[in-house]
Amino acid sequence: MKATLILLLLAQVSWAGPFEQRGLFDFMLEDEASGIEPYKQVLPPDHMEPMVPMCPFRCQCHLRVVQCSDLGLDKVPRHIPPDTTLLDLQNNKITEIKDDDFKGLKNLHTLILVNNKISKINPGVFTPLVKLERLYLSKNHLKELPDKMPKTLQELRAHENEISKVRKTVFNGLNHLIVIELGTNPLKSSGIENGAFQSMKRLSYLRIADTNITAIPQGLPLSLTELHLDGNKITKVDASSLKGLTNLAKLGLSFNSISAVDNGSLANIPHVREIHLDNNKLTRVPVGLAEHKYIQVVYLHNNNISEVGVNDFCPPGYNTKKTSYSRVSLFSNPVQYWELPPTAFRCVYVSGALQLGNF
Ligand SMILES: *[C@@H]1O[C@H](CO)[C@@H](O)[C@H](O)[C@H]1NC(C)=O
Ligand SMILES: *[C@@H]1O[C@H](CO)[C@@H](O)[C@H](O)[C@H]1NC(C)=O
Ligand SMILES: *[C@@H]1O[C@H](CO)[C@@H](O)[C@H](O)[C@H]1NC(C)=O
Repeated sequence: MKATLILLLLAQVSWAGPFEQRGLFDFMLEDEASGIEPYKQVLPPDHMEPMVPMCPFRCQCHLRVVQCSDLGLDKVPRHIPPDTTLLDLQNNKITEIKDDDFKGLKNLHTLILVNNKISKINPGVFTPLVKLERLYLSKNHLKELPDKMPKTLQELRAHENEISKVRKTVFNGLNHLIVIELGTNPLKSSGIENGAFQSMKRLSYLRIADTNITAIPQGLPLSLTELHLDGNKITKVDASSLKGLTNLAKLGLSFNSISAVDNGSLANIPHVREIHLDNNKLTRVPVGLAEHKYIQVVYLHNNNISEVGVNDFCPPGYNTKKTSYSRVSLFSNPVQYWELPPTAFRCVYVSGALQLGNF
């Protein structure tokens, strides 16, 4: 802790504000005609070179944040201060990330490359970034996720690229990843290698929406709390792909082609609170809702559900430990709300929770 603080202080001394102070010292020393060269004593030699704070042309550098967005840049600029913690290069025209583009940026925590034209990232590029936690690559032309991403990475966003394959090896050793966003990529189910996400023991949020995957990926990490797979071509919820996901709280499967939810699927995600299955092809209410203790939100609108059983949503009897639903939607299904059994929602105590009619 102490060491970190000292490092941070040193980093600040070597760049940013204190340069003005140098000027001041200079002036005082000159006045005294002491002839001492002050910098050599105070600062290590490699920090002596720049007489003005280093900042890439036209970028703005402040408090170790380097802001180079919207500048029409076609490559990563030179002279990025070595103590930079956040580098923002979004909305430019960068096409390639070259080997030494991020050389020496060992304090970088966040790298924003969103909305460029990047199709190539050279393999060793991230090696110097030993503290990188957030890498934002969305809206580029990447065909694959880059290799050798820093092991310190916690958040990876790469939606709206041209990624068609997700290889397991890409995530090797990335044990700190918490968030992965891969939506709007031309992925097919076969493009996601089995168990691709499995080794990430802290992964909590995974979003692969608006792709062409036809099944829930197999071998998802048991740490997941949110899984967002909306807008895909998934045809079925198979229980095996949800096995062991006891931390899952939110499951998004809207706008797929799901016609069946395996019996046992909901039992495999015992702590789920919210399920979105609207805009699919379900013909019945998923089995297991009534027994499930914690589900509060169930979206089933825009399906092909033609009947609802008296025990589809609520367990038999009244005296149960089930958490009340806070939102259930069933509109735009062939079943008419006046055909619903009057007691089907006896365990819904929250007023306004039900959306049944088509109005
Ligand atoms: C999914 O496939 C369709 C037809 O094969 C294609 O037109 C569409 O662009 C694909 N979507 C994505 C996100 O790749
Ligand atoms: C679902 O599985 C449970 C336990 O295996 C079984 O009791 C139940 O009848 C099944 N329900 C349906 C609709 O298949
Ligand atoms: C709805 O389900 C019925 C069978 O219950 C089926 O005949 C019909 O084709 C389905 N409609 C759609 C739009 O999938």
